[in-house]
Amino acid sequence: MSLDLLLGLQWGDEGKGKIVDAITSKYDIIARFQGGPNAGHTIEFDGHKHVLHTIPSGIFNNNSINIIGNGVVIDPAIFLKEINGLKKFNLDLNSKLFISKRAHIILPTHKIIDATSEASKGKKKIGSTLKGIGPTYMDKTGRNGIRVGDILDDNWQLKYNNLKQKHLSLISNFDEKVDINIDELETNFFEGIECLKSFNLIESENYLNKSIREGKKVLAEGAQGSLLDIDFGTYPFVTSSNTTSAGACSGLGVPPNKIKKIIGIFKAYTTRVGSGPFPTELFNSIGKKIKEVGHEFGATTGRDRRCGWLDLVALKYSIQINGVTELNIMKSDVLSTIDKLLVCTSYTIDGEEIDFFPYDINSKNITPNYVEFKGWDKDITLVKNEEELPVELIDYIDYIESFVDVPIKLISVGPDRTQTIFRNK
Ligand code: GDP
Ligand code: IMO
Ligand code: MG
Repeated sequence: MSLDLLLGLQWGDEGKGKIVDAITSKYDIIARFQGGPNAGHTIEFDGHKHVLHTIPSGIFNNNSINIIGNGVVIDPAIFLKEINGLKKFNLDLNSKLFISKRAHIILPTHKIIDATSEASKGKKKIGSTLKGIGPTYMDKTGRNGIRVGDILDDNWQLKYNNLKQKHLSLISNFDEKVDINIDELETNFFEGIECLKSFNLIESENYLNKSIREGKKVLAEGAQGSLLDIDFGTYPFVTSSNTTSAGACSGLGVPPNKIKKIIGIFKAYTTRVGSGPFPTELFNSIGKKIKEVGHEFGATTGRDRRCGWLDLVALKYSIQINGVTELNIMKSDVLSTIDKLLVCTSYTIDGEEIDFFPYDINSKNITPNYVEFKGWDKDITLVKNEEELPVELIDYIDYIESFVDVPIKLISVGPDRTQTIFRNK
């Protein structure tokens, strides 16, 4: 009778997709609880590399049901593309994928508002993926949104047209004009709506709670990362949903007392896409090397990811907010051959050393304080057992565990499903 949660603890792209796929056989149901196609979750197996945006990362396991929960925002056009992209795998998608009727829909005009609003911010732009996420959540909380269940009503297009007109008048108030062809967007959108209608649209909160009562094992899959959370992230350089564990309750309709494990995923270093503060960012050749070796380019937008050292102040903060019970360390293979590794353990702000993640990280001039570790010079991508890992990496891992006081139960040493070391701690 339980639900496990899996979430990213940094600024996204920690490798959530890889791990959900790697552990999915332990679960009957995988459920996404927030975000939308701003997410890009990469899965590699049997020579395939596949990126999912809206569909949960359990989709490649024939035995699990996948649910797009009420907290997710869905772009029908992107959803249709994702469905078409999965055709070659011959999955029985109609019996494996259920969608909450309460999930909100991203309209073409939401994307235009996103682009216009970003353009109007100039240098202060968030660096949004421009998928219409912010405007769609604004309409959700503003009680104007259109939900998946609405498209089953014959008259729903009236609602669509009303909201579209509201959006167009909002867009006309901006000085900035973006060159986006709304007719083309609408053609794809309405095709996507037909595709959505062909799926099982359900009250997923009832389905999930019933499944939990029946003893089924459920894994809730997060998107983005804790430092992009609308409340606890580096506001305003955040996304528009609660990416942290509380978001799983509101995004799926499951109560907190049903949650068992909370699995937190983090990279052995740190990355960030888009604008916003990043205290341990590297601007030197080591940052470049991490980017190249780790292929740190956005899975959704292709943008370069900014790279830096592991930040334990930020990690500890994320662990606290989420109630993480176990950790997975990702991409330690990328650090191989770097002689000296630094890990941030406190910040100095205005001459004062602090060990917590401050409210206003944006305007402060933060100097990270580091502890130094010896690197390792061994390719670890084929290592299958912890005993074969370099002692320097084990020291690095031991230090992190004792600093944050949560066990690291999985070490990922490459992008493939099989490059995963489970620890019996
Ligand atoms: P997500 O958004 O959290 O699912 O992560 P992304 O898919 O956006 O980014 C993670 C990237 O790292 C993807 O390209 C993965 O294939 C890759 N990856 C995941 N784990 C590892 C690992 O342990 N080592 C290496 N080298 N790559 C990894
Ligand atoms: P996954 O699930 C990394 C970032 C964007 C931008 C900010 C706001 O793959 O880890 P939005 O489109 O939400 O308005 O963008 O959040 N961002 C992500 N960064 N991984 C993601 O998802 C992200 N989703 C949004 O780059 O800085
Ligand atoms: Mg990603």
